[in-house]
Amino acid sequence: MLLTTPLTDRLGITHPVLLAPMAGVAGGALAAAVSRAGGLGFLGGGYGEADWLERELGLLEGTRFGIGFITWSLAQRPALLERALAARPTAVMLAFGDIRPFVEPIRAAGAVLICQIQTVKQAREVAALGADILVAQGTEAGGHAGARATLPLVPEVVDAVAPLPVVAAGGIADGRGLAAALMLGASGVLVGTRFYAAEEALADPRAKERLVAADGDATLRGPIFDIARGRDWPAPWNLRTLENTFARRWRENPAGLRTRAARARAEIEAARAAGDFDIAPVIAGEAAGLVRKLCPAAEIVDTMVAEAAALLADAAGHLRPVPPLSEDARDVARDLRGF
Ligand SMILES: Cc1cc2nc3c(=O)[nH]c(=O)nc-3n(C[C@H](O)[C@H](O)[C@H](O)COP(=O)(O)O)c2cc1C
Repeated sequence: MLLTTPLTDRLGITHPVLLAPMAGVAGGALAAAVSRAGGLGFLGGGYGEADWLERELGLLEGTRFGIGFITWSLAQRPALLERALAARPTAVMLAFGDIRPFVEPIRAAGAVLICQIQTVKQAREVAALGADILVAQGTEAGGHAGARATLPLVPEVVDAVAPLPVVAAGGIADGRGLAAALMLGASGVLVGTRFYAAEEALADPRAKERLVAADGDATLRGPIFDIARGRDWPAPWNLRTLENTFARRWRENPAGLRTRAARARAEIEAARAAGDFDIAPVIAGEAAGLVRKLCPAAEIVDTMVAEAAALLADAAGHLRPVPPLSEDARDVARDLRGF
């Protein structure tokens, strides 16, 4: 059974599953694997290292793909967008910052403009500026995000920007999450944490192991690792990672950490090189608790879609006439049977 939605129609893909543009983790191999499995893979353009971008774009020749940028960082290196557009991505995703300088070049290149937002106010703004598709990202997400939770944010954004397609992000890692997102009115899902533990992801194998072992209680959101890495993130966004020794040491004392930021940065960089994730961060969301094994990206897509389709078909079965059904419930049951 196919889950066809306005998102799959707009992007010309088979399944409503997008790989999140995870900086440094979503490289060409992972993006290509997700696209080949019927979703759309996004390269994590991140903070914009030109050499990295060049190498990973090279792995995508002949494959449909998207690319995502951290908007405030792209504003400091706008030439990266030109390079990315020359590779003819299906879509460009912008997140975290003012999209205005980039709307025209993206449209002129014929790419679909996707904007990842964290509040209803931002949703209205990017819709007015010409976004084709929105990603409503909840605070459960791995990486940077805001304060709103996925469950109420998604339907509120769907209503605010209708008829634009809205994609749900944050805490979605299996077919249950995909089915729930569709029921909230989303046209698909953007998945990061689950794909971090894909074989093709560029994360350190020891970080992937930590993710598989962690449960969803073991994450925290805050500024600690941005201070330590010397990343000057603007408010209101901050970072969700797995909890570790470094985070526990500094979480109550960000001001103290700022006073020794240079030493902290050296400590984090050395730890990352040594694969010591008691000190270096594993960037992941609450969905960590749903990630139980390392596997190829195609298996993640296939399983998620098959589970969601089965759940939706099953739900339609449960809604079959139990009289007296209200007129509204009858409409819902009829729609669900069409899945
Ligand atoms: C390791 C990692 C790196 C990320 N890097 C970026 C990024 O560079 N740009 C971006 O827009 N979002 C980034 N995100 C957030 C994702 O776009 C997405 O919103 C999030 O992964 C969805 O929630 P989930 O992790 O629960 O699936 C990152 C997420 C993770 C886990």
